[in-house]
Amino acid sequence: MDSIFKRVSVRNFEPRQVEAEKIEKILRAGMAAPSAGNQQPWEFYVVTNPQVIKELAEASQYSGCAAKAPVVIVPVCKKECWMPEYADIDLSYACENMWLEADALGLGTVVLAITPFDDRKENVKKALNLPDDVYAYGLMPVGYPAAVRPQQDRYDPARVHYVI
Ligand SMILES: Cc1cc2nc3c(=O)[nH]c(=O)nc-3n(C[C@H](O)[C@H](O)[C@H](O)COP(=O)(O)O)c2cc1C
Repeated sequence: MDSIFKRVSVRNFEPRQVEAEKIEKILRAGMAAPSAGNQQPWEFYVVTNPQVIKELAEASQYSGCAAKAPVVIVPVCKKECWMPEYADIDLSYACENMWLEADALGLGTVVLAITPFDDRKENVKKALNLPDDVYAYGLMPVGYPAAVRPQQDRYDPARVHYVI
């Protein structure tokens, strides 16, 4: 799969909107992710309101690039689920699926960490007026990349241990 090796973090975007069908494809990819016991502890907020995007971009000192995106997807995690100890891991699989799908669609994104920081979670909760039964996992600004950048080859044979 090309996107596994081609995907990069995209933090600068062209000033144009993303088609709704492409956003739905990204969301479908997220919801196709595996989860512990198939618990699917996720929901997704799709934000295009410029004022709310600005507030999200200020949610952490490392989320400023979100301000330049035409849309920000915010995966949130349900607190009540079958196996909550696995829920953040489940969310990370969903985000990786979305990241790869965005790349395959010619779009770019990045995961901006919200969990596990309580102050960042609170900032996103306020910006989105989230209900108490979910918390924000991360921010995914999505848009057409302003520049194309090659990915590194990270294969390192020294990190592989064959047991024969
Ligand atoms: C769990 C996680 C949290 C991240 N948080 C941030 C973040 O807060 N801000 C940011 O600019 N990039 C963030 N990133 C992106 C990483 O910096 C990036 O994936 C890494 O430098 C490798 O670059 P690449 O994605 O282009 O391969 C995060 C990535 C992951 C997987």
